[in-house]
Amino acid sequence: MSKINRRDLLVRAWKWGFGLVSVAAAWTTWDMFKPSNASGFGTKVSAGPADSVPIDNVTEVPAMRGYLTTDKGEAVALWWKCPHLGCRVPWCDSSGEFECPCHGSVFNRVGEWREGPAPRGLDRFSMQIVDGVVEVDTGSVITGPPHGPETIDEPVRGPKCEGTEDA
Ligand code: FES
Repeated sequence: MSKINRRDLLVRAWKWGFGLVSVAAAWTTWDMFKPSNASGFGTKVSAGPADSVPIDNVTEVPAMRGYLTTDKGEAVALWWKCPHLGCRVPWCDSSGEFECPCHGSVFNRVGEWREGPAPRGLDRFSMQIVDGVVEVDTGSVITGPPHGPETIDEPVRGPKCEGTEDA
């Protein structure tokens, strides 16, 4: 049986160590750059059939963290995040408005600012209709409209939700 001398032992140890480090580096690089199958918020989200988008109301779509409605016949995807400090803005069916529970900003059905400290209307997501299905790109945010005259003529329907149990 041949004896291994100290020099050979060290050379082999260095080679094995270098090999292990190379494999670890290759694995880490692959793990960082491999194609992602990400889904959910921040990606494209299916928001249901295009013909189910309400015309004079809104539908909440939790997967896109927002609402679908129509603006002049076109489907619109609104983000529920308040442009003031980021609270979730619920839709109030009785008033027909979005009412932020945090500091009282109010937005009309298409997300245009009506009152409160929010600096603009609700932000929107870019979206498209693919094979009759609304596909919302929640990674592509369109800044909400600035303060100004509303482009829809929808007065307050009734009592506000804010300050009631529905809020
Ligand atoms: Fe909505 Fe302040 S977070 S008004």
